[in-house]
Parts: sequence; structure tokens; C-alpha cells
Amino acid sequence: MTESSTLTVALPKGRLGEQVYDMFERGGFPCPAIREENRRLIFENAEEGMRYFWAKPSDVAIYVERGAADLGVAGKDILLEYAPDIYEMLDLKVGKCRMAVAAMRGFDREDRRRTLRVATKFENIARRYYASLGRDIDIIHLNGSIEIAPILDLSDVIVDIVETGTTLKENNLEVVETILPVSARLIVNKAAYEFKRARIDRVLQALTEITEEKK
Ligand code: PRP
Repeated sequence: MTESSTLTVALPKGRLGEQVYDMFERGGFPCPAIREENRRLIFENAEEGMRYFWAKPSDVAIYVERGAADLGVAGKDILLEYAPDIYEMLDLKVGKCRMAVAAMRGFDREDRRRTLRVATKFENIARRYYASLGRDIDIIHLNGSIEIAPILDLSDVIVDIVETGTTLKENNLEVVETILPVSARLIVNKAAYEFKRARIDRVLQALTEITEEKK
């Protein structure tokens, strides 16, 4: 396997990344070193020409866009928010959740007397959504634990990911509108898809078969 045909894959750290690595392994692109308990950051299987690394989910698209990784896995939420210049190749049908507007239970969503205060880390998604409704908003950009904002009256609503709904429920919040469904996508660097197309297509084919079993 020549160096130039090694495929570098950026995986999102955490449970979703592990689920996705399992799919690569089942598809015939294993890298046993990744299962070892250690603090290494990059794992390689030279015989198979595969190299994997874990990145913060929101950073995966940056590695892929700039060609530091040939392939990566990122949530549709991240792709819509940052609009990286990559190819989105496949819905992996894992990491399913939704982007939603949530508020304290009993919140009056029809009250338009003042500008709606929206806390979120998905500023672009929130702006586009409210622009499509023709509603003025004031964005409060936060980086995490967004649910606290309406509880402490920092915002009226939040725009955030809802998976099981437990975080909302346990904090006396509820979904008021669903914006869009989210799932993990396989993304590809545009230049890599020119130069390593045969190898990338093999990965794509294998992962397509695995996702079809999930239907
Ligand atoms: C996400 C999201 C919600 C939570 C939803 O947070 O922002 O807080 O998961 O999951 P649930 O519906 O199953 O309760 P994440 O753990 O990614 O951390 P964050 O607070 O940094 O956004």
C-alpha cells in the first residue's frame, strides 16, 4: 500500500464515533490499534492503508475540508451550521436526533410583543429558521448547556439538539417546534475524491451496504 493511497478518517469523539468505527471495521477497513487503551491520538493499520483519529465533532469537518483527513463523519447539524466545502456522500443512519426549538413548559410562542431571545450554539441554523418565519430574534450565542438559558431568563427559547428529550424533561422544558431531523453523514474531501476515488468508492460501497441493513 503506497502512502498516497492511505485513507485518513476523522471520527467524532464519543459514543457516535465508536458506533461509526464499528461500521468501518465491519465494512472491511479495520484498525485494531484503535481498541487499545492508551492516550494516542492517531491510529494506523499500514497493511490496510487506513488511518483513523478522533476529533471534536465540530472539528471533523474542518479536517476534511482542508484535506488533513480524506474522510470524516459529521452530524447534519454541523454541516448545516458551518457549511464546509466538502462532499456529503452518505447518511449513515446513526446518531439520529433532531434540531428543535424548546422553551419552559407553558411558554406562549404566539406572543410577538417583543423580539424573541434565542440561545443557541447553532446560530446560522437559528437565524435561517426564524428568517423563514419572518420573525425578529436576538441571538445569544452559548457554547454548551444551552438549557440553562431559559431557566435563568437569559433567553425565551433555545435552538438545540434533542435526542431522547431527557435533558428538557428534567429541566421543566419542552419542544415547541422541530426544525429538522439530524443524523451522521459521511463526508469526503473534494481533492481526495479526485485522487483516491477508487479507494473512497470502496469505503462508500461497504458503508452503503451496512446502512441499508439498518432500514
Ligand atoms: C446535547 C444537547 C442537549 C442534549 C440532548 O448536549 O445539547 O443538551 O445533548 O440530549 P437528550 O435529549 O438525550 O437529553 P451535549 O451532551 O452534546 O452537550 P452540550 O451541553 O455541550 O451541548
